[in-house]
Amino acid sequence: MDQEVTQAVVSMPRIGDKAPEFKAKTTQGDINFPTDYKGSWTILFSHPADFTPVCTTEFMTFSTMEDKFNAANCKLVGLSVDGLYSHIAWLRTIKEKMEYKGMKDVEVNFPLIEDITMNVAKLYGMIQPNEDTTKAVRAVFYVDPEGIIRTIVYYPLNVGRNFDELYRALIALQTSDAFGVAMPADWRPGDDVIVPPAGSCGVAADRMGGREEGVECKEWFFCTKKISEETVMKTILKK
Ligand code: BEZ
Repeated sequence: MDQEVTQAVVSMPRIGDKAPEFKAKTTQGDINFPTDYKGSWTILFSHPADFTPVCTTEFMTFSTMEDKFNAANCKLVGLSVDGLYSHIAWLRTIKEKMEYKGMKDVEVNFPLIEDITMNVAKLYGMIQPNEDTTKAVRAVFYVDPEGIIRTIVYYPLNVGRNFDELYRALIALQTSDAFGVAMPADWRPGDDVIVPPAGSCGVAADRMGGREEGVECKEWFFCTKKISEETVMKTILKK
C-alpha cells in the first residue's frame, strides 16, 4: 500500500464505553471523574479556548440553563486546555462585563477543568488535529449514573452548540431508560414514543406475548404509544 497514513491514532471513547477515569483541578476544586458523579448524569464538555467569543456565548447559555439540567439529575463539567488562572479571569469577565441575548451578570457555578497538559482532552478524543492541534473541539459526552457514555456530540471550532438540543437529548435518554421506549425524530416530551421490537434500538421491549395496551402499529416494525408530557417530566424531575 503506497497511500500515506495521515490519521494519528488517538483515543476516542465510544457510546456504551465506560467513561475513561481521570483526576483534575477545576475552578470548583479537585475532581475524580466519573467516580465523584456516580448516581447522577454528567455532561462533560470541552470548548476551544477561554477569552473567545463563541465559547463565551456558550458558557453564558449553559450557565443560564444549569438549574434545568440539575433538576433532571445532570451535572455539568467543562474543560479546555487553558490553565486555572485563565479560567478564573475569563469567568470573572463574563460575570462582570458580558451581555448576550438578554443574559448578563452570569455566574458560572459548574466546574471548569484546567487541562494544560491536554491529557484529559486527548483521553476523550477532544483534540482533533486536522481541526486544531492545540485546542479542543466542542465535544459533549453524556455520562449516565453508572459511568457509561450514552451520547457523544462533536461540533467544530467555528459553530456554537444548540443547548436546547443538548437538554432535549438528555430528557430523551432518560425517558428511553425509564419507559423502555425509543425516541423518534425531533421527539419532545408529550410526543408519541416508539415501542421497539424486542432487542432493537438498545431497549428491551418484549411484544412476543401480545400487543401492549395503548400501542398502535402502522407497520410490523413501527409501533408507537402515548406518554404525556406530564408523565415524562414527573418521572424525570423527581429523580
Ligand atoms: C470562539 O469561541 O469564538 C472560537 C474559538 C476558537 C476558534 C474559533 C472561534
